[in-house]
Amino acid sequence: MPKVSTKELFGKAYGGGYAIGAFNVNNMEIIQGIVEAAEEENAPLILQISKGARSYAKHEYLMKLIEAALELSGLPIVVHLDHGDSFELCKSVIDGGFSSVMIDGSHLPFDENIALVKKVVDYAHPRGVPVEAELGKLAGIEEHVNVSELDAIFTNPDEAQEFIERSGCDSLAVAIGTSHGAYKFKTEPKLDFERLHEIEEKLPGFPLVLHGASSVLKEFVDMCNQYGGKLPGAMGVPEAMISEAVKTGVCKVNIDTDLRLAMTAEIRKAFVENPENFDPRKYLGPARTAIKEMVKHKLHVLNCVGKA
Ligand code: G3H
Ligand code: 13P
Ligand code: ZN
Repeated sequence: MPKVSTKELFGKAYGGGYAIGAFNVNNMEIIQGIVEAAEEENAPLILQISKGARSYAKHEYLMKLIEAALELSGLPIVVHLDHGDSFELCKSVIDGGFSSVMIDGSHLPFDENIALVKKVVDYAHPRGVPVEAELGKLAGIEEHVNVSELDAIFTNPDEAQEFIERSGCDSLAVAIGTSHGAYKFKTEPKLDFERLHEIEEKLPGFPLVLHGASSVLKEFVDMCNQYGGKLPGAMGVPEAMISEAVKTGVCKVNIDTDLRLAMTAEIRKAFVENPENFDPRKYLGPARTAIKEMVKHKLHVLNCVGKA
């Protein structure tokens, strides 16, 4: 199976009641853990690389590792740029073989965000590469924030329609209460499903993306702390809410933090239980297995098992 683009995968996921998992990769063990999970569950897959991951591991190393994954797994795999922050970065990864890019202009004024996305689209589309954009700001719903304040932060459904028409993007990351990292909510986790459904109604058939979708499972935070970590109480998006969100328009769900926690917990455990060990395979091996188990679990949450 060759490298595929998100366009092909989203076409099947939209209305199919499932979403594709987009997992962040930084090194060989993470790639292997994710790909082995998707292989065993026969699930389509998006491997995404942030600007930071690309500087850490180097473009060429990551591409060769993913090439190996494609060859060995036979899975449909997308190689996606996560949170591209400039036209130049998007151009560089497209020229270097990525099959999908995100240009994140969500911090810019509406018209400037559109102009930046359009510039990337004009370069990407003739090369067969689809473009993800973002409208709205990712933030947890806090008790004290009122409705008009939420309107200013979250994705506005009317603006979303204008945004996709004028920018020509292929998928849209929406802000409905998810946020990045391990500390998403101070109080009760909540997502604005009403807003999500309004966006879906305004953009029928158009693939939506959820960033900041990690659930920050207590088991893994506790395990990190049991083995010497000092992570403060964290709170993520309950997995039931993610399963609910993927039923219609949400075709791509981004998960990084949950993998980081699973990996770190296992490495901490290996160091504490085996302090005399200094063979990296004896802590990176279990970490790889932990990633694999976490991804398998997530593929069920996203309902994309067997959809490759
Ligand atoms: O949303 C960002 C991802 O979790 C990637 O994080 O920029 O630290 O690689 P990073
Ligand atoms: P989490 O931090 O919730 O895993 O979100 C990852 C993400 O959105 C990457 O773009
Ligand atoms: Zn993100």
